[in-house]
Amino acid sequence: MEFGDRVVLITGGSSGIGLETGRLLSQRGAHVWLAARDKQRMESALRQVEAARRSRGQRCGAVLADVTDPVQATRAVAEVTETCGSPDILVNSAGAVHPGLFRDTENAVMQRLMEVNYFGTVHMTRACLSSMAARQQGHIVNICSVYGFMGGYGYSAYCASKFAIRGFTEALRAELRPLGIRVSIVFPQNTATPQLEYENKLKPDVVRALDDTRVMSPQEVARAIVRGIDRRQYVIIPGAEGKLLFWFSGLSTTALHWVLDRMVDRALKRPRQRQG
Ligand SMILES: NC(=O)c1ccc[n+]([C@@H]2O[C@H](COP(=O)([O-])OP(=O)(O)OC[C@H]3O[C@@H](n4cnc5c(N)ncnc54)[C@H](OP(=O)(O)O)[C@@H]3O)[C@@H](O)[C@H]2O)c1
Repeated sequence: MEFGDRVVLITGGSSGIGLETGRLLSQRGAHVWLAARDKQRMESALRQVEAARRSRGQRCGAVLADVTDPVQATRAVAEVTETCGSPDILVNSAGAVHPGLFRDTENAVMQRLMEVNYFGTVHMTRACLSSMAARQQGHIVNICSVYGFMGGYGYSAYCASKFAIRGFTEALRAELRPLGIRVSIVFPQNTATPQLEYENKLKPDVVRALDDTRVMSPQEVARAIVRGIDRRQYVIIPGAEGKLLFWFSGLSTTALHWVLDRMVDRALKRPRQRQG
């Protein structure tokens, strides 16, 4: 796909994976628009995206919006459309995480992650859909997680929201294909972003002990996303471990559970060994 002249809207574009995807698409000639809530972070992100432009004619911009609010989601898309044209590519990267055992996780956390990760994706998709359908073209890219296809110890709230994204995206793909609109789902593994920093502070010991997948850079993940869009892939898995786990999960739930349970048992023993 040629990205020159494409209008790309990226939620969560002020940080991490969203920002790096924006920078890369800006280098490839797209008109990149970022959406998030914090004005200061957004201004700094926009400067980086503008600095990456291939030509001065690229119109990049930023809109402040909380994706959990359907009115703000609609307004954000209207603002981009008015200034630059309807988005050709929507990347839903806005997200939040909060690790902890289910018994220690309040309902407010379960609801917040569902609101940001799942309903944020739903609201932004809805806001972009009618113009994509009218033009019979467009691409919606939903950033999920390896926790969108396997259950992670200490991640009940996050997994529920990411599995919801996966179910939504599967159905969306089937419905939008006849309308000429492409859909992709991205399953990143641990990636060095502010979200991971926040997550690391909250991880219970067992979850920390389980954490031995390679931490990818947001640049690597962004490269995989842009390559996946280019190649029109539905499933985009940036990391080798993510690919292996995805393959395993498709092979047999029993086999996947066997591997994950052995890892959890080992991690549960570690603190006890240290005490003894
Ligand atoms: N980092 C990882 O290890 C990892 C692994 C797998 C999947 N992922 C997923 O990748 C995506 C990007 O994560 P990241 O690691 O790049 O996180 P990040 O660096 O913390 O960025 C999160 C972005 O989302 C925005 N955001 C959060 N809540 C929002 C809301 N209600 N409305 C609008 N924007 C909102 C943030 O800006 P404001 O706070 O200013 O709104 C920020 O721009 C997320 O969906 C995440 O779950 C991350």
